[in-house]
Amino acid sequence: MSSGLIAEFVSELKSITVMEIDPAEVLERVTPVMKKMAKDTSWVRPEFYEADEDQGFGITILNEEDDHSLLVEAICWLPGKGVAPHDHQTWGIVVGIDGVEINVDWDRMDDGGKPGFADLKKARETSVEHGVIVSFMPDDIHSVRNDAETTSLSLHVYGVTPSTLPRSEFDPINKTQKPCPQRKRTVAAE
Ligand SMILES: [Fe+2]
Repeated sequence: MSSGLIAEFVSELKSITVMEIDPAEVLERVTPVMKKMAKDTSWVRPEFYEADEDQGFGITILNEEDDHSLLVEAICWLPGKGVAPHDHQTWGIVVGIDGVEINVDWDRMDDGGKPGFADLKKARETSVEHGVIVSFMPDDIHSVRNDAETTSLSLHVYGVTPSTLPRSEFDPINKTQKPCPQRKRTVAAE
């Protein structure tokens, strides 16, 4: 990784996760480290803004440990695009870097006892702009959209690579739950 800042960031994350196993504690302690990455954005490269047109967003992997822990990604969202509600099955935290993405948190109203069924209710929307943090516990459900006219960019950290976990995507209108589709991702060049 060319950016020493990212290497420094990852080692700070490791110093927290080696000590903390409680996701809520991890999120609290990772928050100031995320804010630091929004303050000095010299680690951002132009290719982080390259999105897959069909998918609507672009994911650049900046770190992933051999055991799939500590996934760090830069994610950009094209104007007018978004992603359906989903969970992560691990803790996650996002800080806005550029532009504005709308993060929507959803409450689950049913008990999850009926396979394939999920009743979601919108809980809140957060405008994730530069320096704004949103975080997720493993079962939290969120969706994202970019209502603005410019591509947005944010930095994401997950306890474990979500694509390796049995996570779900939801359709709040048809009240369905299904396995989350795999995302197209790019590994950052050295
Ligand atoms: Fe997500």
